[in-house]
Amino acid sequence: METAVLAYSGGLDTSCAVKWIKDNYGLDVVAVVVDVGQDENLRRIRDKALAIGAKDALVFDKRREFVQDFILPALRANALYEGVYPLLSSLSRPLIARTVVDVAEGLEAKAVAHGCTGKGNDQVRFDLSFNILNPALQIIAPIREWAYSRSALIEYAKANKIPVPVTKKSPYSIDANLWGRSIESGVLEDPWVEPPADVFKLTVPAEKAPDKPVYVEVEFHKGVPVALDGTELDPVELIRRLGATAGAAGYGRIDHIESRLVGIKSREVYEAPAALALIEAHKALEFMTLPKDLLHLKRQLEGPFARLVYFGEWFSPQLDALQAFMEETQENVSGTVNLKFYKGGLTIAGRKSEYSIYREELATYGDGDRYDHGASKGFIKIFGMENVLYEQIRKTRNGLGRSSRSKGNGPAPKPKRSGTRRNGPPGENEAARRTS
Ligand code: ARG
Repeated sequence: METAVLAYSGGLDTSCAVKWIKDNYGLDVVAVVVDVGQDENLRRIRDKALAIGAKDALVFDKRREFVQDFILPALRANALYEGVYPLLSSLSRPLIARTVVDVAEGLEAKAVAHGCTGKGNDQVRFDLSFNILNPALQIIAPIREWAYSRSALIEYAKANKIPVPVTKKSPYSIDANLWGRSIESGVLEDPWVEPPADVFKLTVPAEKAPDKPVYVEVEFHKGVPVALDGTELDPVELIRRLGATAGAAGYGRIDHIESRLVGIKSREVYEAPAALALIEAHKALEFMTLPKDLLHLKRQLEGPFARLVYFGEWFSPQLDALQAFMEETQENVSGTVNLKFYKGGLTIAGRKSEYSIYREELATYGDGDRYDHGASKGFIKIFGMENVLYEQIRKTRNGLGRSSRSKGNGPAPKPKRSGTRRNGPPGENEAARRTS
């Protein structure tokens, strides 16, 4: 029998998929479970796939790869889709797809499969990644092909003795990894309903957080977080620890009406304490170490970076190019940021860097000032010269005696003939005359 390799999570959709592919395509199913830090019992998930009828079930620990190849590039780009969502699910899909394709190639499988519906972004991310990595592999997406409602799926599961993890009481669709946790559906589908307490796992409610602030010093080396409070940690552990501290202080919740690629607005609740804290800290260090033109250019490209990731274009030349740009900007993004968590909030309590462009001797209003005050005057004159010319031309054209921007308080001066203004940059009168 030929084989389909299925990205398996142990949830309702992928569990039904095991059975459905076997029955409807007549293929052996090999389930691939990828550990991206979802903090679940993966051996149990593996056993579940086998119990439902998978021919084999394989678990891969990809946490380090997830951090190195996906999370850290996203952090360098401060990647937040629509300015709020740190892309946790979006980042894991290309890695899961890559793992599935590797297995499929090793087994000379005919098909690869995923458990996504036809309404979400994840199907796009899987399909695009599968197609790029190996276009010869057939893609099977049972839940999409089937288009059953969630309750019909639960019926199918029950009829086929597939253990159902969702209940009437806990009907949520959850996706979790090292970068955070997403919660969808159930009562959350009404955007007017405040998320019930039981949807959260990584964060306490702000009002229940301790009354004392918690400080954490995060040290970065070239845009990569390397230590917490002076202790060097590998990034997997660093993200885990920072997430625990921030979440215990009530920090890291997101409640979003999100624009899916497929045209649907959806209500998404996330907990991403480590991701949000690291992005804030990283930005704070960039403000200190990047010259303004580079900083502003980078900020303009961060949105497009996040969009590409969200839209499933991880494996694309456009994302490669943006990644290269982001990496190039990080040469000097080293230093330490002191984060202060308090009752659901985060403030930057301090930052320092040996590459700081912030210089106290330049910024100070106190003693020891080294800034060249005299140079400012000429700089401003030339910086504003074109705008001054432009305004004078407009004034002349409209036959106004004063700037078209002045509010006109006080008596209006008599209109002057063009070309008679006394001061202004050289060349101004000629330009004004020509257009009048
Ligand atoms: N809306 C988020 C995204 O598109 C989260 C998706 C979560 N996926 C899931 N199968 N529950 O990235």
